[in-house]
Amino acid sequence: MKKVIIRKTEEIENWRRNINNDINFIPTMGNLHNGHIKLISTAKNDNSNVNLVSIFINPLQFDNKLDLENYPKTIDNDIKISFSNGADAIFIPSNEDIYPPNNKNIKFLKAPIELSSALCGLNRIGHFDGVCTVVYRLLSLIKPKNLYLGEKDWQQLLILKNLVLRKKLNVAIKSIPTQRDFDGIPLSSRNVNLSKKERQLIRFFSSELLEAKKIFQQEKKINLNEIIKKLSAKKISIEYLEHLHPYTLQKVRLEDNISLLAGAIRCGETRLIDHVFLMKRRPIIAIDGPAGSGKSTVTKLIAKKLKLLYLDTGAMYRALSWLLIKESIDYKKEKKLQDILKDISIVFKSNTNSKQDVYINNYCVTEEIRSQKISSIVSKISSINKVRKFLVKEQRKIGESGGLVAEGRDIGTTVFPHAELKIFLTASIDERAKRRKSDKSSKDSQEIDLNTLKELIKKRDFEDSNREISPLRKANDAIEIITDGYSINEVVDKIIDLYNEKIPKETEIK
Ligand code: PAF
Repeated sequence: MKKVIIRKTEEIENWRRNINNDINFIPTMGNLHNGHIKLISTAKNDNSNVNLVSIFINPLQFDNKLDLENYPKTIDNDIKISFSNGADAIFIPSNEDIYPPNNKNIKFLKAPIELSSALCGLNRIGHFDGVCTVVYRLLSLIKPKNLYLGEKDWQQLLILKNLVLRKKLNVAIKSIPTQRDFDGIPLSSRNVNLSKKERQLIRFFSSELLEAKKIFQQEKKINLNEIIKKLSAKKISIEYLEHLHPYTLQKVRLEDNISLLAGAIRCGETRLIDHVFLMKRRPIIAIDGPAGSGKSTVTKLIAKKLKLLYLDTGAMYRALSWLLIKESIDYKKEKKLQDILKDISIVFKSNTNSKQDVYINNYCVTEEIRSQKISSIVSKISSINKVRKFLVKEQRKIGESGGLVAEGRDIGTTVFPHAELKIFLTASIDERAKRRKSDKSSKDSQEIDLNTLKELIKKRDFEDSNREISPLRKANDAIEIITDGYSINEVVDKIIDLYNEKIPKETEIK
C-alpha cells in the first residue's frame, strides 16, 4: 500500500472511500516518542487494518498560551517515525481544516463534569472540553474501527471512553500501558523541555509512586501524607496527589480492589503527570449462566488467552455429589453431611494435556462427574445451605489473590461480588439442547433425544433459579451475552474486549 500524507479534510474523505479497509486511528500532537511508537506498532500488530496517525496540536486543549507556544514541533521527524513504525497514512491538518471559521457544523463539546472536574481538570480549565471536541471532530472525519490511546493520560482515556458511549460512536478504544523511560519517568512529549535538575525531580516523584505501589502490594494501604511530605522535602511543587476510584475518579471505597494513585507536579514551566494502579489482588472475571450456555468452553478459552486461573465451581459441586453417591451418604441427614464436609479437599491440577483435572480427596474425578447420574442430583445437592457455604468458602480461598476466571451460577452475586468483570452468559433452550446433544464429551446426552434434553434443561433452570440460597440470577452489574448464533470464538473475543476495556493494561505489569 502506498504511504500517503493527507493534509485536507476533503482528501481524508476521498482516501477513506478508496482504501476499502477498516482503520486503526492513532491521534497525536506530534513530537513522537517511544510511547507513540508503541501505539502505532501495537495497532499494526493487532490486525490487518490500515493505520492512520494524525498530528495536530489542538489549540483548544491548551489552557495556557505559553504552553501552546512552547509545545515541541518536530514534524519532519514525526513523519519518519510514523512511517517507519507502521503508519500507512498520516493526517496533518491545519487549524482551519479542523476548525473552519464560520462552520456551524463543528460541535464544541463539553467533557462530563464528574470526570473532568477532578485531577487535571482542577487546574486545566477547558482542557478536556478541547480534547473531546478535537477527538470527536477527528473521529467524525476518519470513522475508524479502532482508536488507540495511551493509559498515561488515564483521565483523558476515561473521558474519551465516555464520549464514545455518550455519542454512540461505533469505535473500539484500545489502550496501551504507560511507557517509561530508562529512569522510570513516563514518556511525554513535554520531557524535552526539562532541565537536568527538573528531570531529577520528576524521577523522584515517579519512583515514589512506584514505591507506593510496591508497599500497597504487601500492606494493602497507602499513606498519602507520607508521600506528600517526602515530595515537599525535595521542594517538589505538587499540584495534586490523589487516591481515587479508577473509573469514577470519586473517593476510593474500602471494597475497591483496583484504585488509582495519580499526581501532577510542576517543574519550572513544565507540568508533569504520573500515576500507578494499586491492586489488592489481581482481577477476577465472573461468568454465570444456565447449564448449556457455553460457559465452560468459553471460560476455559478465556483463562488460556488471558493467562488466568480457571475456576470451574460447577465441577466442585459435581465432585462433592459424586462423593456423596460413592459413599452412599444421605445428604438430607445434616449430621452426616457435616461430618463429611469436615474432611473434604477439592483441588484443581493441570494435567499433561494442559487441561485441568479435578480431585476430591486426592482422587481424580474429571470424567466421572460428567455423567447424567451426577447431572440429575447436582442441582439438589448444590441447593443445600451447608454445601454452598462450604464450597463458597473454598472458592473464595482459591480466589484470594485473584488472577482467575470463575464460572458458575452465583459467582457474580455471591462468591465474588466484587469481581471486576461480570458476565451473564445465556442462550435459548433450543440452542442449549442442540449444543448438549452434539457435545461429544457428554455420553449420556447423546443417548437422550432432543425433546427430553429440552425438558431436562428447563427443569434444571427452574431448580437453579428457584432455590433459596444463591439462586441463578444475573448480578445487577453483569453484562448479559446471549450466545445464540455466535461462534465460541466470537463470544470469547467479545469478553476479552470487555476485559481489556475495563482493566488497565498497566495492572498486568509487575
Ligand atoms: O493525548 C494527546 O496527545 C491528545 O490529547 C490527543 C488525544 C491527540 C488529542 O489532541
